[in-house]
Amino acid sequence: MKQPVLIIASLLFLAQSASAAGIPEPRRIELLNLLKHDCGSCHGLSLKGGLGPPLTPTKLQGKPVDFLAATILYGRTGTPMPPWRPFLTNREADWLAQQIKEGVQ
Ligand code: HEC
Repeated sequence: MKQPVLIIASLLFLAQSASAAGIPEPRRIELLNLLKHDCGSCHGLSLKGGLGPPLTPTKLQGKPVDFLAATILYGRTGTPMPPWRPFLTNREADWLAQQIKEGVQ
């Protein structure tokens, strides 16, 4: 009797984790490395700022994920912020934007 409920619950769980992430674990680790080393070279190893501004949850409050993802993908003309489009998919840029908004160590 309870089985259909369980099946539906696990399907929901699977669907949710797939859409929340959509990025396989090994690629996520690569992206976090990129964030630390490549982005960190300008934004600071702990993203607290350097040549580039801090990418911390407090500083990014009020800035939509879409806006941050667009900055990551296209860079900012006239500033040292480069475009990462050649290296990242839209979904990966969204994911990175979410990570910095939530706070990554
Ligand atoms: C060569 C230096 C450099 C590198 C490397 C770099 N950035 Fe930036 N980034 C900047 C600068 C400078 C700005 C500020 C641009 C401006 O004045 O608007 C910026 C701005 C940003 C912003 C907007 C912040 C805000 O408050 O609006 C985000 C998000 C961002 N960078 C993410 C990244 C990510 C993610 C990476 C790595 C994939 C990265 N940056 C790599 C220099 C860099």
